[in-house]
Order: sequence, then C-alpha cells, then structure tokens
Amino acid sequence: MSDSVRIVEVGPRDGLQNEKTPVGAADRIALIKALLHAGLHTIEVGAFVSPKAIPQMVNSDHVLREVNHLAGGEFHVLVPNEKGYEAARAAGAKVIAVFASASEGFSRANINCSVAESIERFKPVIARAKADRIKVRGYISCVLGCPYEGEVKPQAVVDVAQALWDLGCYEVSLGDTIGVGTPSKARHLLRAVAGHVPMAHLAMHFHDTYGQALANLYAGMEEGARVIDSAAGGLGGCPFAPGATGNVATEDVVYMLEGMGIATGVDMARLLAATNEISLLIGRPPVSRVASALNAK
Ligand code: HMG
Ligand code: MG
Repeated sequence: MSDSVRIVEVGPRDGLQNEKTPVGAADRIALIKALLHAGLHTIEVGAFVSPKAIPQMVNSDHVLREVNHLAGGEFHVLVPNEKGYEAARAAGAKVIAVFASASEGFSRANINCSVAESIERFKPVIARAKADRIKVRGYISCVLGCPYEGEVKPQAVVDVAQALWDLGCYEVSLGDTIGVGTPSKARHLLRAVAGHVPMAHLAMHFHDTYGQALANLYAGMEEGARVIDSAAGGLGGCPFAPGATGNVATEDVVYMLEGMGIATGVDMARLLAATNEISLLIGRPPVSRVASALNAK
C-alpha cells in the first residue's frame, strides 16, 4: 500500500470545462487561490485548446498569468498541439499536459485525429517543451472503457502509456473518463501499465460516474500507485464523453486518505469553503458525499 499520496487538483480545468454557463476568468482565479490556500499545491488551471471545442477554457492565458507567481503552487495547463504550446509558453507555463486516448473513437471526438496521429502531434510539442525546460505530463483517456467503443483492452492503454513515457512525459495519468471501471479492473490495468511505466510515475484520474472512483483508487493504492487526480466538489466531465460526470471529489479523497493515516496537507474546512463557493457560482450543490455530510452539520 502506498504510504504517501500526491493529489493533483483538476477542478479549475476538468471541473469547469463542461459547465453549461462558462465560469469567468476572475472566478476561476479566485477558485485556484482558494484551493491553494486549502493546501492543494498541484493545480490544473486551464487549457490551451480550441475555443470552439471548449469555450469554457477561454482566457486560460490570463488565468495562468494571474496565478503563476503564487508561492507554493505548481500550475498545469492542457495543450493539444503546437499552437496550444506556443500560447501556453507565452503565458509562462512551467508544466503542460498533453492528452491522448486509448480508444480511437474518443480520440477522434475529442481531438479530431487518430491515436497514432495524436502521438505524432505531441512529438514536436514535447521536444520544444524539453528545450524550454517545461515539464510535460501525459494523459490517457478511456483507460477502462470508451463511450463510443465500449470495452478497452489494457494493451491499448499500455501502448499509449509506453509512447508517452518514451517521448519524455514525467508522469502518465490514466483517465477513466466515463467512470465505468471497477476495483479489479483498475488493479489489473495498473499492474499491466506498471510493467512499462514505473508505478511512481502513474497517476489515477478516475471519474465517479458509477460511484466506483474511491474503491478504484484504493485498489490502485494497494498496487502502489500514489498520485491521484481529483476535483473539488466532484466537478467535471468532458463534452466529448456523453454521460460522463465529475471527477472523484477532492474532499472524498482527502477524507479517505486522512482516515487511513496518510497526511495530505489539505485543510478540509478551507477546501469545503472553496467547494461551496464554486457550487454557488454554478448553481448546484457539490456532489461529494463528504461536502454534503459536512455542510449538513
Ligand atoms: P481541429 O479542428 O482538428 O484543429 O481541432 P485545426 O488544427 O484544424 O484547427 C481548427 C481551428 O482551431 C483553427 O481555427 C485553429 O486556429 C484552431 P479557425 O481557423 O477555424 O478559426 N486551433 C486552436 N485554437 C486555440 N488553441 C489551440 C488550437 N488548435 C487549433 N490549441 C483540436 C483539433 C485539438 C485543436 C481541437 O479538437 C481541440 O481543441 N480539442 C480539445 C478538446 C478538449 O479540450 N477536451 C477536453 C479535455 S480532455 C479531457 O477532459 C480528458 C481528461 O480529463 C482525462 C480523462 O478524464 O480521460 C484529460
Ligand atoms: Mg477527466
């Protein structure tokens, strides 16, 4: 079992990219500051993607510039291609994330190219990032199932993970985009991928659509995985993954870890305040169980 865990807070990006009414840059900046204040140090703050594809992430350059100087934070942004890379670098990005898929159907819907083409697109991005001393994280979507193709074979995930690792990603985040995984499948997948990318460099990015995310994380931790992507309030989803709901909630993850004696450095009261603030803004209560329980007290 992992004895320490690093949380990557993806709420300001994954959490807000699917909101019907886009959340403005000033409110996204306030959320990021509140999350940092709560003790979350690695925060994904935006995406340099097509504004036609994801209008919710416009002004990510402004958001990044406004938070980049904040002490104690590492701020990540998504980059799909060289155009996005140039904009991210100009805004001062120090860590970018490229994003691929284990399934062809989702790759086509999300980034309008095949899986192999996406890897080719990432090559110059990663090479330029290396030259500019910008760290690159790699995502793989649909690792436990695809909204267009159904079952996804672990070998398809292994192939993409190997490619991202070989290109120089420092960490590969395994996305259960539609939250269909179960603990035994998550365990089996982590074992398979860890044969090619060291377990210490794998992250678990589990959406909670079917209520399995915490159980899947626990299974992954038993395998030795120690990086968890989560979103405050269980926000999230992807417009190109029909039916997908939010990421596992950061409050739920923090509650589970602290209860297991694994220190997170996160102040639950401050995290709850950040979560409540953003849910007021989007007009929905947080979906997380821990937020509901604590708010009812
Ligand atoms: P495309 O249409 O094939 O791109 O889209 P293109 O190169 O043909 O360009 C088309 C237009 O987009 C042009 O503008 C470009 O300038 C513009 P026009 O001439 O029509 O006015 N463009 C851009 N604009 C801003 N920034 C850019 C950029 N690139 C092109 N970087 C593309 C391909 C990848 C750009 C598009 O499909 C896209 O932006 N997709 C992003 C989709 C996305 O952000 N999805 C959500 C994130 S992934 C996710 O949530 C999963 C994850 O959480 C893990 C998990 O849960 O599984 C990470
Ligand atoms: Mg996601």
